Amino acid sequence: MAKTRIFTCSVCGATQSKWSGQCEACGAWNSIAEEAPLSTGPGTKGLKARGTRLQLTDLAAQETPPPRTSSRLEELDRVLGGGLVPASAILVGGDPGIGKSTLLLQAAARFAQNGLKTVYISGEEAAAQVRMRAQRLGLGQAPVALASETSLRDILTTLDAERPDLVIIDSIQTMWSDTVDSAPGSVSQVRAAAHELTTFAKRRGCSVILVGHVTKEGQIAGPRVVEHMVDTVLYFEGERGHQFRILRAVKNRFGPADEIGVFEMTGGGLAEVANPSALFLSDRGEPSAGSVVFAGIEGTRPVLVEFQALVAPTPHSQPRRSVVGWDGGRLAMILAVLEARCGIPFAGLDVYLNVAGGMKISEPAADLAVAAALLSAREDVALDAHTVVFGEISLSGALRPVSQWENRLKEAKKLGFTSAITPAGGTPGSDQGMKQQPMKDLTQVVGEIFGAG
Ligand code: TYD
Ligand code: MG
Repeated sequence: MAKTRIFTCSVCGATQSKWSGQCEACGAWNSIAEEAPLSTGPGTKGLKARGTRLQLTDLAAQETPPPRTSSRLEELDRVLGGGLVPASAILVGGDPGIGKSTLLLQAAARFAQNGLKTVYISGEEAAAQVRMRAQRLGLGQAPVALASETSLRDILTTLDAERPDLVIIDSIQTMWSDTVDSAPGSVSQVRAAAHELTTFAKRRGCSVILVGHVTKEGQIAGPRVVEHMVDTVLYFEGERGHQFRILRAVKNRFGPADEIGVFEMTGGGLAEVANPSALFLSDRGEPSAGSVVFAGIEGTRPVLVEFQALVAPTPHSQPRRSVVGWDGGRLAMILAVLEARCGIPFAGLDVYLNVAGGMKISEPAADLAVAAALLSAREDVALDAHTVVFGEISLSGALRPVSQWENRLKEAKKLGFTSAITPAGGTPGSDQGMKQQPMKDLTQVVGEIFGAG
């Protein structure tokens, strides 16, 4: 029987039966590579192979929570769900140059100082380079074992002998397994290397942290399957021009997803930011039209950020809609609701929306803050500088209550805000001493806050 060949796209992970220059699923060019054949056990040859019978257990069996090692970097520990779990596999993805190697070198040093036998393998930089960086970060004395290597076989042999508690692989795209016949960085290589390393982690009780570069499309380069193989996926993000960096858990088998850790890139490496709201709002000047502070929740922590909008007549036939830090589709929806339900047209106007500080917001609770920023910019009415805003907007223009009301108000009060524009009919619990302006729908906001409509 002819062997079935599988070709995989390295951008979207789609599979097809023949090679082509362009991926049929996502349209990327030169991204198709042949998948290495799966190992052929007896079962695949049509023979009936007998396996071993499994020991089944019931759900009532007592499980003790896994012991965790703290990095004493609170921002990192929180994102991991309270520290590093033994034998876990973690993927840290991010744009090149964002600071992944810096973060993991600092983490490696901290874990090593806290008693974990730690090995740092760099496939990208020479050992001398890593050593120099460690010295510049003041970590030259940390007991981290270092190697510069890309051959997976040599790495696994070394790890087998060394028996570390934690190994950091920087990066998975540079690893090369001789069991797979394709170039490093290709889908099959990345998949094979990730598989061998995560299997090693489980078998030897060693935690593995894999660094992965992100493509322009925002995916971890190579197959998304790496994300399925690991226990935890963290993204390290930030804007190039800003010094803030956000470590975000997008998947975590050992803790809550959506948790964030905030860091600042300084000359001496990454510094923790214990109070992100104060930092994100630190550049705020005089109250100005188009600026609105959103009382948000990231993971378990309230975070205040500023939305800035600019609305100006367009010189083009097609007005521009430009968004940084927020979803473009969601912006279109809010513009449509303002137009259809409140009679505020944005046709013929360019709209720019920006989250200050390079933060990315995905909570629907930010809808009302975005709408308020757009209205404030369009009507040229500045919102009171001591007011925060939150609430979800439905397609009918009605405002929906959001979760963690009290926490949002508490954080706002802590930062010196005195009032909040909120959806009506929620369950605020204690108002935390904040004046609340409950709004039923967007029309009420337009009329009462901005005197328009
Ligand atoms: P790096 O950790 O090499 O990024 P990645 O591994 O994600 O590609 O970080 C590179 C950037 O960080 C580089 O532009 C310089 C900057 N940086 C600092 O600003 N301060 C520092 O102490 C260090 C080590 C790097
Ligand atoms: Mg790097």
